[in-house]
Amino acid sequence: MKREIYKFQGITEMAARLAADFKAAADKKAAAGERLITALSGGHTPKAFFEVLAQPPYKDGVPWDSVIFFWGDERCVPPDNDESNFKMTNLALLSHIPIPESNVHRILGENPPEEEAERYGEVISKFIPGSGNGFPRFDWIFLGMGDDGHTASLFPGAPTLNEKEKICVVATHPQTGQKRVSVTFPVLDSGARVSFLVAGADKEPVLRQILEGEGQQLPYPASMVNPVDGVLEWYVDSAAAPWLRA
Ligand code: 6PG
Repeated sequence: MKREIYKFQGITEMAARLAADFKAAADKKAAAGERLITALSGGHTPKAFFEVLAQPPYKDGVPWDSVIFFWGDERCVPPDNDESNFKMTNLALLSHIPIPESNVHRILGENPPEEEAERYGEVISKFIPGSGNGFPRFDWIFLGMGDDGHTASLFPGAPTLNEKEKICVVATHPQTGQKRVSVTFPVLDSGARVSFLVAGADKEPVLRQILEGEGQQLPYPASMVNPVDGVLEWYVDSAAAPWLRA
């Protein structure tokens, strides 16, 4: 696994670089007659990135026909609920760009969680070819990290961390009890490019342990993502990584 760390002054600079990198990746796939198959994260951090993609030059400059959106996790709420990752993405990006509806595969948060985890796992499995570990290989997985070190909806100490067979599982938020549908570690580890987007001072304590403790056994799910045949990237801002030289 190759690891890269990119440090930015703030979320604005991070979002600008992410949008440029995203367009480059989509253009490369389109030029090869292929599609960029992505898994998006939720939370607040990716919103600035999505909002840049929703504006010129990306709004009409990205070959959206060649972009496929999946999600790495979703809250088990309807798509018009303020908690919905899809709603955030739709408001920030999808409703502003000419992406074919058939290219957008949201997790149906309104469905019963267990049924939806099963269904979404089948959708991913049918749509995306497998990789060396036998799991679907996303071209680019975007992840956030909570201040407790969770990622997607894989929370510290949760039984879902041990899931090695299924593509999607039902998770439970440790504080709120909210049900979530999340992809599992084998899917994350099958990714060709897995990028963490981490911003804000609240993330520093855990982020520092992870970035300085590479190879150590840490209790944080974000430290357990290991794309053996891919690139692991950390896009971080100066508030989350003040100790890092730019
Ligand atoms: C979710 C996310 C979750 C998120 C982190 C960071 O559904 O909430 O997938 O893993 O990425 O909690 O969230 P922020 O970007 O809001 O800090």
